[in-house]
Amino acid sequence: MPRWPETRTRIGRSRPQQTDDPFGYDAPMTTARPLVILGSGYTGPWIYTLALQQSLPILASSRAPDRHLHDVDPSRRIRFDLGEPSTWSALPPDADLIWTFPATPLEQIQAFAQHRCHPPGRLVVLGSTSAYDKEGAPVDDLPPWIDEAQPINNKLPRVQGEEYLRTHHGAMILRVAGIYGPNRNPVEWIRQGRVGPTKKFVNLIHVEDLAHLCLLALQRGQAGETYNVSDGHPRRWADICAEVSGRWGVVSPRQADRNESGKRIRNHKILTHLGYTLRHPEFYHALQSIEADRQPPIRL
Ligand SMILES: NC(=O)c1ccc[n+]([C@@H]2O[C@H](COP(=O)([O-])OP(=O)(O)OC[C@H]3O[C@@H](n4cnc5c(N)ncnc54)[C@H](OP(=O)(O)O)[C@@H]3O)[C@@H](O)[C@H]2O)c1
Repeated sequence: MPRWPETRTRIGRSRPQQTDDPFGYDAPMTTARPLVILGSGYTGPWIYTLALQQSLPILASSRAPDRHLHDVDPSRRIRFDLGEPSTWSALPPDADLIWTFPATPLEQIQAFAQHRCHPPGRLVVLGSTSAYDKEGAPVDDLPPWIDEAQPINNKLPRVQGEEYLRTHHGAMILRVAGIYGPNRNPVEWIRQGRVGPTKKFVNLIHVEDLAHLCLLALQRGQAGETYNVSDGHPRRWADICAEVSGRWGVVSPRQADRNESGKRIRNHKILTHLGYTLRHPEFYHALQSIEADRQPPIRL
């Protein structure tokens, strides 16, 4: 399965947004500081491809660059492993960083950040909306909307790491909803029975929108802020399953056996602060195009 978005990807050149910001989105960064994507899993390559299209001084890191950074020019590859301090010096000093893996464990985060995360370098950390999960929370049929002012669960190790980076190093924390896109296809999740027609609410974001928002947060976000990242349309899995069954005849083998309410995530803050319009606001349109491009399974 390809890790990197193809060059014919639908990541389009972004249009400047009408905002009070003196720098249009397509304006170059105000400094020539390099930008490093820490981690090359699913989202990292999308950010990298978009940054190349914007002519940003982009570098990509991986713990295994020979295996995971095939599509990156060798001059832009970095071997970086948070768990191996000897690799930390491979990052250019003062680089801007976009951190795409869970910020744990705390001691390692602290040691790395004290070593590497100093102004003027800016730091965007991908967190998760699971930060809002509470043990023993009541199961509501219609859970309340959650914005960035809601309390978070500081017992979660990744939340501790994120909060340390935010409060001590000015990191911007993006609390990200479920990421979907090409090769991360909710129709497949239903087909495989990973999800079923429960009443649980799910919040989703297309990986292309997430990639745009990561770069915009670096350019326009406020240090030390948190931003929810979601398409703003929480949906019940039961409703998604019904729509997917109607459109593609795909039915989950899983029963509606779980009693969870999920969350409803507000995305107003990030869209207004960063002046961004979602490229994939219509979930079923996005699914349609992901399904159309899906590679059929190989039959032996
Ligand atoms: N998937 C979702 O639906 C979802 C939802 C909410 C939040 N998030 C969060 O959003 C972020 C991006 O998600 P994603 O799905 O793109 O993540 P991903 O596919 O797991 O990619 C993260 C990459 O980071 C690198 N990495 C992992 N541990 C590392 C370490 N200790 N040191 C250095 N590099 C390390 C790995 O790349 P190499 O193997 O090449 O080193 C890994 O593939 C993650 O923090 C994730 O937890 C994801």
